Amino acid sequence: MKILVIGSGGREHALVWKLAQSPHVTRLWCAPGNAGIGAERLANGTLAECVPIGAEDLPRLLAFALEKKIGLTVVGPDNPLALGVADLFQKNGLRIWGPNQKAAQFESSKVFSQRFMTQYGIPAPRAGTFSDPAAARSFAAGLNGRCAVKADGLALGKGVLICANPDQAQKAIDDMLVARAFGAAGARIVVQEFLEGMEISLHALCDGRNARLFPTAQDHKRALDGDQGLNTGGMGAYSPTPFLTDAELARVRETIVTPWLRGCAGEGIDFRGILYPGIMLTEHGPRVLEFNARFGDPEAQVYLTRLDNDLAELLDASVSGNLDRVDIRWKPSSSVCVVMASGGYPGAYAKGRPIRGLDEAGRLPNVKIFHAGTARSGDHILTSGGRVLGITALGENLEAARAAAYAAVERLSFEGAHYRRDIGGKASGRPSVC
Ligand code: AMP
Ligand code: GLY
Repeated sequence: MKILVIGSGGREHALVWKLAQSPHVTRLWCAPGNAGIGAERLANGTLAECVPIGAEDLPRLLAFALEKKIGLTVVGPDNPLALGVADLFQKNGLRIWGPNQKAAQFESSKVFSQRFMTQYGIPAPRAGTFSDPAAARSFAAGLNGRCAVKADGLALGKGVLICANPDQAQKAIDDMLVARAFGAAGARIVVQEFLEGMEISLHALCDGRNARLFPTAQDHKRALDGDQGLNTGGMGAYSPTPFLTDAELARVRETIVTPWLRGCAGEGIDFRGILYPGIMLTEHGPRVLEFNARFGDPEAQVYLTRLDNDLAELLDASVSGNLDRVDIRWKPSSSVCVVMASGGYPGAYAKGRPIRGLDEAGRLPNVKIFHAGTARSGDHILTSGGRVLGITALGENLEAARAAAYAAVERLSFEGAHYRRDIGGKASGRPSVC
């Protein structure tokens, strides 16, 4: 089977790396890819190839897939899904993995998700949906200003403002609804009560009828140790986490996944891809903060290093609606991914810095270095984005995986590199469960 992966980050490198191991995969392209992706070798010895087509350039992606007779296209990021890449490919007779535009609304519209959660009894924060600033302010005042103000549409991960008091809430509401800081994406907003607790990531692979819940993972969204600094796309992740027992995870399946599937069936939503709910574990139980309609990044890196199945078979079953017949198997190992980012990220940062130590770090046992913002220039690999590398390691437990990942990080360097030293720290000393 010939496969095209869409995207260019660490998540897409992990997808390509795992797909390359499948004996079913004969050729593998990634648009636009990165330097690490272009160095992955398939089971049959050929190299994966990067294609210089942007992840949102739907017409050219379609033309490429038709020309190469791609058997399965795998979509990494949210934007092409929200733009309807799955619908376009299907209309042209191509198989594609990732939700169609209607199903991708779980991520592309927070108003849609909030309404859906309320309608189908999915546990979520108390919330209201507004386009009128006065009504939004009055709802936020009822929460004493302790709230999350969320732009309805996609806003490059920046459309959520956390407020601690009425002044902050008023400013956030006015920024979105009056000053239109997020453009049309903020023409409608969701105001949610602020929830306290431990935040975890869940992922479920779906095939339109079935949803198969993965083990838990945890991301680290803030730039600096101790959850300080600005929100980022994710500075590191690990799986499993010790925060839900098997019994609690089964309960999550009953209270979140089952009503979600019922709602999808009721509304004719054919979701084939990854549903990724962001969950807050509160004293009253798990609550869904948001839904994403794709793999998390860096969650994909830790899930795919733990996954024991052939990924091409698994994604094919997701597209075909056969997931109920598949046994999804996970290595018992822990996986930890530490992101090395460019100095200044998530703000402005320099590009083009040579990366040193890739060969040496990559030879360490149980370590895989996923590239994100990298580019090849002759014999050198240069930084070319905010998140540069995702150093991922397996270990028999979390401590062993952390030690292996950080041992590799210490061998890598580029000017201005920064990374968190506490990935997995919240789980340290607690027994792993699922
Ligand atoms: P979202 O994109 O909706 O996940 O929001 C981004 C981040 O904001 C989440 O990962 C949480 O850390 C935080 N957040 C979102 N909603 C809430 C909420 N209702 N209460 C507390 N924190 C929240
Ligand atoms: N890990 C956060 C995200 O992918 O949205």
